[in-house]
Amino acid sequence: MREITITIDDRLISAREGDILLWAALDNGVYIPHLCAHREELKHPSASCRLCFVEVQGRPMPVPACTVKVSDGLVVNTRSERVDALVAAGFELIMSNHRLDCKNCAANGNCGLQRIAKERKLRLKPKNLPVLERDLQVDSSADGIVYDPNKCVLCGHCIRSCRSDGKGILGFTRRGYDRIVTTFGDVPLGESGCNSCGACASACPVGAFAPK
Ligand code: SF4
Ligand code: SF4
Ligand code: FES
Repeated sequence: MREITITIDDRLISAREGDILLWAALDNGVYIPHLCAHREELKHPSASCRLCFVEVQGRPMPVPACTVKVSDGLVVNTRSERVDALVAAGFELIMSNHRLDCKNCAANGNCGLQRIAKERKLRLKPKNLPVLERDLQVDSSADGIVYDPNKCVLCGHCIRSCRSDGKGILGFTRRGYDRIVTTFGDVPLGESGCNSCGACASACPVGAFAPK
């Protein structure tokens, strides 16, 4: 692919034509909040977390950076009033459905949510929305993995990793507010064929799947 030059936040950056903007920015030290994007998902990004909004010159509205392919001369701003408002609202929505317990969480200090809060000066605890505690059962039935669905942000990385490096036993089930990651047949991990390989925990950007 041809080398091109794009501008992000007034900085000239080299990229390859057709690269995904989110990765081009991150690879060049420009942080854009993100949870659901995956480098291998080039054609059909789920764009479900709604956190990676940026302004692209020539486009009337902010767009998710994980859905934009770069082309020569592209001009991007990662911050604006509109972008900041969208990211803050998206983050608040995620945090309103997240069991916040950093002190006792395996991801503490290495957590995608903490990173976003720090980078964008956002509160982990929702300010405007009520916290909807789902009180789902924590699954510690597997030998080496514990799964707390109350912390899941539905990014799908564990499912992809389990399929490529594990036993392929994870998937999404249900819709809307009830959507969760679970095992095939919705059985506890310990009865699912899971061998505690840890692929899910390594892929999880928060503390939902964690080593025991
Ligand atoms: S997943 Fe992150 S934000 Fe949530 S409790 Fe764990 S460390 Fe805190
Ligand atoms: S368990 Fe972790 S990796 Fe899996 S969907 Fe939830 S947040 Fe993403
Ligand atoms: S990373 Fe782009 S929408 Fe989630």
